[in-house]
Amino acid sequence: MSDFKSNARPSPDPLILPIPDSLKAIFAPFRDPLATEEQLPEILSAIQARYGYLPERHLRYLTREFPITLSRVYKVAFAEEGKYTFDPPGKHRLGICLGPYCSQRNSEAIVHAVSKSLDLEPEDTTPDGQLSLQIMYCAGHCRQGPILMADDEAHFESNPERACRIAGKLRGTEGE
Ligand code: FES
Repeated sequence: MSDFKSNARPSPDPLILPIPDSLKAIFAPFRDPLATEEQLPEILSAIQARYGYLPERHLRYLTREFPITLSRVYKVAFAEEGKYTFDPPGKHRLGICLGPYCSQRNSEAIVHAVSKSLDLEPEDTTPDGQLSLQIMYCAGHCRQGPILMADDEAHFESNPERACRIAGKLRGTEGE
C-alpha cells in the first residue's frame, strides 16, 4: 500500500484504470480527428446508450483519445437540454473516489475488489438494475479518504472488504 503524505502533489487527471474495451469499441468508428467536433453529439449518444448515462471518467477518456477539451464536451452535452444524464441508472449507486488523495491511499484496490465481487466494470450497472458502480474524482473529503459514496451516504477511510460489504448490501445480496 502506498504511503499517504499530506504534502504530496496530486496529479490533475488520474485516469489510472485502463480504458474499458466497451468504450474503445464506441470510439473506434470516430477516428478522424478533424471530424471530432462535429461527431461529438454522436459519440456522446453512443456512450449514453451503452452505459445509461455519461460517466465523467469516460468523458475524460474522450478528451485523452481525441483532440477536444473537457469543457467543450460538457458544453455540447449541456446544449441539448434533457438529452443526456450524468447520473448512473442503477437503483443504488456506489461511488468510489479515484481522486488524487484517495488514489494515494489505494482506492484503486477498492475499485478492483468491488468490480470483481460484482463481476462489473466501473461505470456499469448490475444486470438486475440494482447497483451502478461509479468512479468519482473528488468527493470533497480528501483527508478522510479513501471515500465511498453509497447513494448519498459518505463512508470514510474505506478498504476493499468494507466496500464489498457495502456493495452487497446495496445490491440486496448481503445483510449487515
Ligand atoms: S480525492 Fe477523494 S475525496 Fe478528494
